Amino acid sequence: MNARTSSWIPRSRIRFAVGITLALAVAGVIGSFWWRGTLLLLVPALAAGWAAFLMLRIRYQLSPGGGDWERRIHELVASRLGFATSSRDSVLDIGCGDASLLVALLEGSPTISVTGVDLWGANWSYAQAACEARLSRLGLNAAFHRMDAAQLKFPSGSFDVVVSVMCFHEVRAPTNAIIPGPLAALREALRVLRPGGVFVLIDRFGSTADYDDGAELESILQTTNDLRREPLVPTLGVPWPLRIMRGLGAAEMLSGRKSVLAGHGKALEALVLNDLPPVVPVPDGNFDSVK
Ligand SMILES: C[S@@+](CC[C@H](N)C(=O)[O-])C[C@H]1O[C@@H](n2cnc3c(N)ncnc32)[C@H](O)[C@@H]1O
Repeated sequence: MNARTSSWIPRSRIRFAVGITLALAVAGVIGSFWWRGTLLLLVPALAAGWAAFLMLRIRYQLSPGGGDWERRIHELVASRLGFATSSRDSVLDIGCGDASLLVALLEGSPTISVTGVDLWGANWSYAQAACEARLSRLGLNAAFHRMDAAQLKFPSGSFDVVVSVMCFHEVRAPTNAIIPGPLAALREALRVLRPGGVFVLIDRFGSTADYDDGAELESILQTTNDLRREPLVPTLGVPWPLRIMRGLGAAEMLSGRKSVLAGHGKALEALVLNDLPPVVPVPDGNFDSVK
């Protein structure tokens, strides 16, 4: 049975927000018997209650009963890859969680070879053993490794396809790194992809909190071809409150291919691919007219 075991919004986070709401509300009301000023605690209690409500609602929308948005997003990735993958491709999913995306990909193309990496930290309800058990229950094969997305232990160019869904914004920068964790993860994703290989990556690429002003993101993406940037909310018609900025509001799907000559510059690639722009003839001895 291909049942999902967990959600992008872990129950523990909702329980924490509900606990804070109740603690503040009770302290505010009981304290007011001695001093009315404690009623002010009801303000942060309301804010925490609102956060708990949003998380509960979003968790529901992500689940099969509430619109199944997690599955729809995985299907979007699978459909974008559908035309690009061959039956023998090696596919890496970075931050694979409970392996739902890998299962969806394997069900569409059973002969691809898939690898999932994740930290499976305590703040998530995902686990490597649960991924392995799930795949073996379904009679599918995959390799799973505990690995930091910012420091993948695979040699460069190891995979034909790299995918990742809503992981990079979680990634912390390695010690002494000069770029933020999400950008380090993106760089690693493209490093382990073979030249010409296909990537489909979903994250909050539109968020300045995660990707600064976007300049470094643009610079890393210079090493790709056929790039498509699609904001998730209009592409899929994501409903409120899943579409708020703390939800999928800043999420984009980046897809394309790693440049064949990544690291050697676009001009060299254009030269090799015979794709240079037409040469503008220079009038004899009149270089001033050339702008
Ligand atoms: C929102 S969940 C998404 C899970 C999965 N991609 C999916 O679509 O269902 C984010 C995942 O990123 C993983 N993650 C967070 N930081 C990570 C890191 N530094 N390296 C690898 N995985 C990480 C978490 O453990 C979690 O499984």
